[in-house]
Amino acid sequence: MQAEHPEQLSALPEDFVWGVATAAYQVEGAVAEDGRAPSIWDTFSHTPGMVAGGDTGDIACDHYHRWPEDIALMRRLGVDAYRFSLAWPRVMPDGDGVNPKGLAFYDRLVDALLEAGITPFPTLYHWDLPQALQDRGGWPERATAERFAAYTQVVAERLGDRVTEWATLNEPLCSAWIGHLEGRMAPGIADIRAAVPASHHLLLGHGLAVQALRAAVPHARIGIVNNLSDHTPASDDEADIAAARRADGHTNRWWLDPLHGRGYPADMVELYGVEPPVRPGDLEAVAAPLDWLGLNYYFRNVLADAPGGELPYAAQVVAEDARRTAMGWEVHAEGLTRTLRRMTDDYGARRIYVTENGSAYEDTVGPDGQIDDPERTRYLEEHLAACADAVRQGVPLAGYFAWSLLDNFEWAYGYEKRFGLVHVDYPTQQRTIKGSGHRYRDILASHHARRHRAA
Ligand code: IFM
Repeated sequence: MQAEHPEQLSALPEDFVWGVATAAYQVEGAVAEDGRAPSIWDTFSHTPGMVAGGDTGDIACDHYHRWPEDIALMRRLGVDAYRFSLAWPRVMPDGDGVNPKGLAFYDRLVDALLEAGITPFPTLYHWDLPQALQDRGGWPERATAERFAAYTQVVAERLGDRVTEWATLNEPLCSAWIGHLEGRMAPGIADIRAAVPASHHLLLGHGLAVQALRAAVPHARIGIVNNLSDHTPASDDEADIAAARRADGHTNRWWLDPLHGRGYPADMVELYGVEPPVRPGDLEAVAAPLDWLGLNYYFRNVLADAPGGELPYAAQVVAEDARRTAMGWEVHAEGLTRTLRRMTDDYGARRIYVTENGSAYEDTVGPDGQIDDPERTRYLEEHLAACADAVRQGVPLAGYFAWSLLDNFEWAYGYEKRFGLVHVDYPTQQRTIKGSGHRYRDILASHHARRHRAA
């Protein structure tokens, strides 16, 4: 369903949070400045052959220096909130000692956001583990979860007087499965015997971080951000139905079940052939009550049985006539509604934010310097309409964060894939709001106007 007119979005609550999102390594640059040390992504991106075009996050969007301009852009868009991540290797470069200059950067950012009337939504971990901790074993080691809690405490004590909304991890699925099973992301390991312990220690780190946050920031509202998917079997064939179930276990249940006190799904433990290294008390820590769940949604998955392939032996099928983004991902807004329903109906979510949603397309800068991006605009409208549908169906959706504020470093795809509502000309670092950014501004402005009329 397409949102021709914002009135279609009238189901969204009056206090709906309209935001934009980024992540530290994707935008900050300044990788060797003010005491920051390398993260696993510096190492990975500097390893030949790992990132398209040999791109790195060395400069990225130079947000470390240009953040005042970027906050001004957010003001022009009129957003209520900014979801960003803190770079652990800026705050604790060697994983132990605190770097005051790194911490001070986020202090300034938070103050400036608040001054601009924009609510900060920091995420503590968006994939950039300090390389020093990787050298000590990384996420497959239990000690990394404990160090994550120590880092969280440092940040919470510094920013907790001004920050209420906190996310622990971003998409632990990617850290565990893509980083340790498929090897397509940092740290580039491909071994299920590393991936399963990594997944558990990420979730344990989350649980311990929740404890640290609750202790340091009594008014904190805490969530975790997962990239969950809607899984549809490619046919009525039993084998495809089983494949979709496995993919659902890999993507959704492995994460949501332990977070909701249900432990790790037995069918998946059997499939992986590796027991997560759970110690007494771990599962209780992982299932610490949360104030909200974050959903990052981009596409749906249609799955066919793939025996002999990679875990979870399910191949993604995209119909020839399906609309796709430049990532090759199928555009399917209904899958967003369905995923939000799943979180609500099966897991009893009481407050959800869409913490990321967006699309990459090949943008062209017009002769007038403007970027007309009708496909991204349509994607945005359709997915906002899907959010409103979910609310009509009873989903407690509290906000939406467009991915991304800026074109940025798209991990293994480098700078080639552009997700921004704002175009970045990398050689000059010039920012230009795209057509989709203007549309987002108009939509949320009309929602704000309704809010004010009602007040
Ligand atoms: O760019 C990423 C982001 O870092 C995590 N979620 C998906 C986005 C698009 O791939």
